Amino acid sequence: MKFLKILLLFITLQVSAQQGGMWIPSLLEGMNEQEMTDLGSKLTAKDIYDVNNSSLKDAIGHFNGGCTSEIISPKGLVLTNHHCGFGQIQSHSSLENDYLKDGFWAMNLEEELPNPGLYIEFIVRIEDVTTQVLNGVTEDMTEKEKQSLISKNSNTFEATVKKEAWEDTKIKSFYKGNQYFLFVTERFNDIRLVGAPPTSIGKFGSDTDNWVFPRHTGDFSMFRIYANKDNRPAEYSKDNVPYTPKHFLPISLDGVEEGDFTMIFGFPGTTDEYLPAVAIEQITTEYNPSNIAIREAALKVIDANMKSSDEIRIKYASKQARIANAWKKWIGENLGIEKSNAIQERREFEATFTKALKEQGLEDKYGNILPEFDVLYENFEEVNIKRRNFIEVFLVTNELMNMTFRAYQFEQAVAQNPESFDKAKASMEGTLTGIHKDYDVNVDKGVFENVMPFYSKNIDASIYDQTALTNIVTALELFQGTPEEVIKNLNNDPAYVYAKPMIEEFYNTINPEFQAKNEPITALQTEYMTALMEVLPNARYYPDANSTLRVTYGQVRGYSPRDAVYYSPVSYLDGVIEKYIPGDYEFDVPQKLIELYESKNYGPYADANGKVPVCFLGTNHTTGGNSGSPAIDAYGNLVGLNFDRVWEGTMSDMYYDPEICRNIMVDLRYVLFIVDNYAGAKHLIDEMTLVHPKKKEQSKAKGKKKK
Ligand code: ARG
Ligand code: GLU
Repeated sequence: MKFLKILLLFITLQVSAQQGGMWIPSLLEGMNEQEMTDLGSKLTAKDIYDVNNSSLKDAIGHFNGGCTSEIISPKGLVLTNHHCGFGQIQSHSSLENDYLKDGFWAMNLEEELPNPGLYIEFIVRIEDVTTQVLNGVTEDMTEKEKQSLISKNSNTFEATVKKEAWEDTKIKSFYKGNQYFLFVTERFNDIRLVGAPPTSIGKFGSDTDNWVFPRHTGDFSMFRIYANKDNRPAEYSKDNVPYTPKHFLPISLDGVEEGDFTMIFGFPGTTDEYLPAVAIEQITTEYNPSNIAIREAALKVIDANMKSSDEIRIKYASKQARIANAWKKWIGENLGIEKSNAIQERREFEATFTKALKEQGLEDKYGNILPEFDVLYENFEEVNIKRRNFIEVFLVTNELMNMTFRAYQFEQAVAQNPESFDKAKASMEGTLTGIHKDYDVNVDKGVFENVMPFYSKNIDASIYDQTALTNIVTALELFQGTPEEVIKNLNNDPAYVYAKPMIEEFYNTINPEFQAKNEPITALQTEYMTALMEVLPNARYYPDANSTLRVTYGQVRGYSPRDAVYYSPVSYLDGVIEKYIPGDYEFDVPQKLIELYESKNYGPYADANGKVPVCFLGTNHTTGGNSGSPAIDAYGNLVGLNFDRVWEGTMSDMYYDPEICRNIMVDLRYVLFIVDNYAGAKHLIDEMTLVHPKKKEQSKAKGKKKK
């Protein structure tokens, strides 16, 4: 028994040692391919990324620059999260057509709703261009000289890249500027809303359940890509037709069980895996707590108002979700840093590095790096937090301060170039209209009273009764007249008068100081990365996320969030009903879903035990931006839709611990069950290709035995 335990431990350690990392899809051959095979994958590197033939990557689109989406039918049908399409669903919603509350389903192509500004971008190919980009860069250059040569080289090179008329290029830095890749991309701008479940399914559990497991959220929505008659990207036109993709993902109805291979293919946004311990400590003890406090203060007001009025609920839905999401994430991040002992672990890693420097006689070359980090970070802390507080108050939470901030930028633009008045004015009017579309002055005033004390001792809420900016009509009037009149009016507006000195301080003092202190940190971080790869060459390095396409892989696994508690990896529809609180704004369940549950009318979407799986956990290393990413099984089929991570695991942005870091996915069978049995949108199911890879394997195995 004991032996078995040790053996099991050994196996788990072995497996966990091979997970974590967000890998570049064009470089999977070799190590990654082997690791994936060891974890159960039947895919080759070429199945995932191939330049000359269609491959999985052709189905993966960057959704509006912030989320991921994937094509699931030969007619350009696209799947992403409900929270990724939330802004679009909200923008089509009104008190009469409350698609947030009731859901939306286009029953034919004509009913699909266009979304100006929304786009999906695909990767055509990826090339290593490090040599070209770093050509002529030498160690004795200053950071500024280096960066300017790098950007000049990049531009020169991009101009020579062979591409089609509708394609774009971009060059991105990897491993802190130690490597550069070129991306040739293809962007579609006519993206229409096809379907979304009601919020009570798509955002079931709302903030209480956000970032946690057990989870029961059907966080999905569907869109469709339209192209011109030649199947190329085009601006919106009623003559456009559904796009025929190079590849779309078949959907497995066999689901997953603990230990199954999964891979997440998507566009993770930002991670910081190579921070020194001193930085992680600063984030945990100073930076996160101050951000958490400001957002908490804002949410108190917004949440209370949203609960008491439907109009405010619709207006503030997106904004509240955005504020609450990071607020709760940071709390979890701190929990995870502590639970995984991340700071201590990082210190020990640094000790290993220092020891290796000594052994290799490299102290002169790299020995200054870690002590230098200590000095730079200590010096950076105050301005970093001050700047961040400004952003939280002026740009994230308070809308009146946001309007004054934009007005200040307007004034600066006009002062610098009087010719630009008309353009600046038009842009200002756009900003004001945008803010006022979803604005409530009482909510905003309450937010002001709660958040401003975190930034300044001077809190004067009476500006709300005197300013022109809180009403769209008077706000627009403020910008009427000659440039001189407008600037004069603006500088007489009480809110502007109040905010301007703080905004000036931000631009003239805080931000420049922040830049000046951050720049040497960035440069040192580049040197540290170079040093790590030279001094400890056998460690497993993966580049930080940078909103480019990545592959991350692992297995379906539960985890233990606390002593004596274990979460098994799959949740079921039974759990939705268990959490049901009639009329509650987070845990209400649509009547029809209750009826389907009671009648056990599950069709082909139940698992072998006759239950409908809702969400499942995996050891895939994901981050913000991976929302909407497909979870792909060992055979290349879609089995899940990534949408979240577990609370204690969100520190994986700085420190991935395979013991507690888990991504959360919606089971595709729940998605199809909702589309088919709940919404009655069978025509969408008919577009898809549904497969049974496991049943196929089983019958193959049986066939072999018989022989
Ligand atoms: N936490 C997930 C993410 O980071 C989901 C957010 C949307 N859900 C919500 N309740 N705000 O985006
Ligand atoms: N919900 C996140 C997103 O919008 C994904 C969760 C995470 O941060 O891992 O991308």
